[in-house]
Amino acid sequence: MLPPFPTEKKVKNGMCTAQKDWGMQDIEAAVARHPAHRGSLIPALQDLQETCGYLAPEALAVLAKHLSISVNEIYGVATFYTQFRFSKPARHKIQVCQGTACHVRGGHMVLEEFEQMLDVKAGEATKDGQVDLERVACLGCCALAPVITVDGLVHANMGTRKVPAILAPLGVKEESKAT
Ligand code: FES
Repeated sequence: MLPPFPTEKKVKNGMCTAQKDWGMQDIEAAVARHPAHRGSLIPALQDLQETCGYLAPEALAVLAKHLSISVNEIYGVATFYTQFRFSKPARHKIQVCQGTACHVRGGHMVLEEFEQMLDVKAGEATKDGQVDLERVACLGCCALAPVITVDGLVHANMGTRKVPAILAPLGVKEESKAT
């Protein structure tokens, strides 16, 4: 089950510009939930990403102080795992399944259509910060292939002709370019 994707863009305490209402007190609370030793690093990173939507530099600085390790060391560990992201999430997230069932039913063409219309490659966000485009292995509903999700909602039996209708309500601008 995917976590709900944040939809509100707010700045709090002048610190952070993620797409969720969070601030330094939220970072400190997330960090304080974890014992101050190295074994807490991965769970704390997961907590911070859930709090901020990504591993914000100011969050990693607080965590480094709490665990008495360097920020560089934290980056060294975090970059090893694909689950962590280091840039602000876009306003909307589109996941296009490329698992076997979806692939054989044209999922790769659906992905190419999204890439072309958004002018990004999978794994990139549009320059206007509207859409993150992701390639995923299997969304767990193969009978509905090809499948995508938009902000966590499943769209079944996708085809290239449905792509414009998916993008229209997301406010995608013509001039969107990759970041
Ligand atoms: S392969 Fe796409 S949902 Fe399983």
